[in-house]
Formats: sequence, structure tokens, C-alpha cells
Amino acid sequence: MAILELEHLNFHYRTLRGAVRAVDDISFEVEKGHTLAIVGESGCGKTSTAAAILRLLPKNVARYDGIVRLDGKNVMELSDEEFRKTVRWQGISMVFQGAMNALNPTARVGKQVAEPLQIHFDAEKEEAMARASESLRSVGLPEYVERSYPHELSGGMKQRVVIAMALILRPGLVILDEPTSALDVMTQTNIINLLKRLKKEEELSYIFITHDLALASELADEVGIMYAGQIREIGPSEYVYPSPKHPYTKALLKSVPILRSSESPISIPGVPPDLIESPFACRFHPRCSVSFEECGWSAQEFADILERLRASGEDGGVRWGEAEVEDDLTLVLKPEDGMDPVTYRKALEEAFHEQEESTRAFKAVTKVEVRDGGVAVTLHEATTPYMIGEAHRAACLLLRKGGEKDG
Ligand SMILES: Nc1ncnc2c1ncn2[C@@H]1O[C@H](COP(=O)(O)OP(=O)(O)OP(=O)(O)O)[C@@H](O)[C@H]1O
Ligand code: SF4
Ligand SMILES: [Mg+2]
Repeated sequence: MAILELEHLNFHYRTLRGAVRAVDDISFEVEKGHTLAIVGESGCGKTSTAAAILRLLPKNVARYDGIVRLDGKNVMELSDEEFRKTVRWQGISMVFQGAMNALNPTARVGKQVAEPLQIHFDAEKEEAMARASESLRSVGLPEYVERSYPHELSGGMKQRVVIAMALILRPGLVILDEPTSALDVMTQTNIINLLKRLKKEEELSYIFITHDLALASELADEVGIMYAGQIREIGPSEYVYPSPKHPYTKALLKSVPILRSSESPISIPGVPPDLIESPFACRFHPRCSVSFEECGWSAQEFADILERLRASGEDGGVRWGEAEVEDDLTLVLKPEDGMDPVTYRKALEEAFHEQEESTRAFKAVTKVEVRDGGVAVTLHEATTPYMIGEAHRAACLLLRKGGEKDG
């Protein structure tokens, strides 16, 4: 049975440049007693997903909708007051990214762990301190830590303190946002072992957020691969790790260094897309080594690529000329140096064909025709990749029609 279900969750930020689509139509479930790891590159929206689940909305929220079900109940229907009183911390709690470095340096640890109980839940001081003490003990900290100041503790101990804070109200689900990324490997292992023990003893479920696939495999029952605000592959770890379906997951796994292996890790070319002007259909296609025409290039992206080629001098014998974007799928190129449009059209068509392996976007060209003293280039209509599979889902056009075609 699922403790948490997300359906079509959206969470966008308003900025001067436009809306940042940090969480874009995300759906997944976390089974009771399971750990779902969410893995992805920096900036892909992992923390924003956690913020959306816990309704931690900044002032510049542009869009926040979808369904968040906790134990079968849609908590999006609750008022802010009800949500604060019944869901945040009691139902779902969170260990925030970098929280161990945000402990108040002037307050003793016991007081800091107890304080939220007094402030948010009107607990008496004595009761709050007793609960704090119990929670600190449960994460394996010795008694003296309660009276210590944060600077007197090691990184591993401080991380245990913030885990104790998240556990104080005995939630069913804990979101752990990069809980070990600032720790050395041995301390990391200790914290992972602690999380495993707590999961068993307290019957907890976790969402474990990390950029580290290897670490995620230590703890995760299920793993969700996030890219540019979307979950691109999700399923049981025992399937996703040995048999990834999505080209991004495959590339991500190949980028992990293997101890004492003669094979070097392979990095993924390019950078993740801008979440304001995300690529047209599949957001991974500018970096995907197996993309094809249907994966979707917009005329604007295509024009940007030509501009980059022009600026870098990689014109392959063709003067790309100024590109004017006409609509989503059409751009018009103007010949330079008085070249006649018919000759220019022929040169362009040949260049697109010859260079389609080095510049994948050229595969998307469907028509090149003379128009209004220039040459109009029409692109293949992008097809939105959709998820296949039930327990193990992946979104890629290569996996269409129920068949799995390895890329
Ligand atoms: N308050 C905000 N206003 C505008 N944009 C934001 C805000 N918070 C985050 N973003 C943007 O949303 C995107 C997702 O950010 P988020 O912090 O969720 O990523 P992340 O996957 O947690 O990254 P990291 O691994 O570095 O922690 C980023 O492009 C980020 O710049
Ligand atoms: S749909 Fe699949 S093949 Fe196409 S670009 Fe995206 S990940 Fe690559
Ligand atoms: Mg983050």
C-alpha cells in the first residue's frame, strides 16, 4: 500500500525571465516501509519536489497544483492551517539539504530539537525536552550531546541531530534531501546504516534525494530518475540499475566511476536545459546520443544551434546566414553575400544531410524550400515521449508501442 501518491504535481517559480518549471507534471508513489530514491543532476528539481510535497511555497510561486495523497487522503484539499497541524512534521517530515550547517550556533542542541514542539505544537517545555532527548537517543547520540553546542559536534553527529529533529513527531514518511553529501565516506556509511536501522525500527518510509546513484542503491527499494523537472524513469532498484530503459539513466549509470576498474566513467555531453525555455518535446534530446528526428527540435532551438555553429566557425562550407523563426517548426534563412536562393537551398540541403551525425538536430529537417528571397526550413513535428511499463516506467520514444528497443 502506498503511503504517498503524487499525481500530475506541478510547482513553478515566477522569475523576471519567465516561469521556472522546476516540478513539471510529476507522478509517483512511495510504498509504506519503502525508500524511493530521487536521483538527478544539480538543478533538476529534486528539492523543489520535496518543497511541493510539504507545501513549502516561496513568495514567487507561479503554479502549484496536482494531487498529493498521504495515506489515501488528498492533502492538497486541506487549508494551510490544517496542513501545518496535521501533515507537515507529523505525517511527512524533512531533513533539509545542508541543514546540519544551519543549526543555531548559540543554542544547545537539546533546546533546538525541542523548540519546534513548543512553538508549533504548544508542547510544555518539560515534555518537549523529554521528547527531544528520546529522539536524540534513537539516532545513537550520547546524552551529553543535548547540552552541547553545534560547534562542539562532528559533521556526522550534527547530521544525526537534524535526523532526530525530523523524527521527533514520529512521522510515517521522511524526506531526506542530500543527507550525507557533506560527509566523508565512513561517516556517510554510518548515517546510511542509521537510516536503515530507523526505517526498520520505526517502520518509516523515505524519499531519499541525492545526485549519487551509487549511494541511492544502498538504501533504495525504488529509484526515480529526474531530469529537467520531470521523472524520466522510475521502478524497483533491482530492475533500474541492471536494466535501465531511458537513455538518460543509461548515460547516468555510465558516468559513475567504478572502483579499480580500467574503464573510465563517461560524462554526458552538454548541460541540462534551462527550465524556463525547456526543449520542445523530450528535454533530454539535445544531449541524447540516440535521439532521432521525432524527439523534437523547435525552430528556435534549431536557430540557436545554427547560430552557435556560425559563431564557432563550424559552418561545414555553408554560410548559415541569419535565421528568422517563423513558428514552432519553421525558420527562414537568408543567404549572405548575394548568393542566389536556389543555390543556397541546395547547399543547405546537402549540409543538413551530410552533417546529421555530428549535429543531430539536422535529422529533424523535413523540408527545405525557397521562399521570399530566403530558404524556409521545416522541422519534423515533435512527439512527446510517453511512459511505458507499469512497475518500471520510462519515458522515451524509443520505447514506443509496448516494445522495448534498446538505444
Ligand atoms: N525560489 C526560487 N525561485 C526561482 N527559481 C528557483 C527557486 N528555487 C529553485 N529554483 C530553480 O528551480 C530549479 C530546481 O531547483 P532545485 O533546488 O529544486 O534543484 P535540485 O535538483 O534540488 O538541485 P541541487 O542538486 O543542486 O540541490 C533550479 O533551476 C533552480 O534555480
Ligand atoms: S525521446 Fe528517447 S531517444 Fe528521443 S531524445 Fe528523448 S531520450 Fe533520446
Ligand atoms: Mg536540492
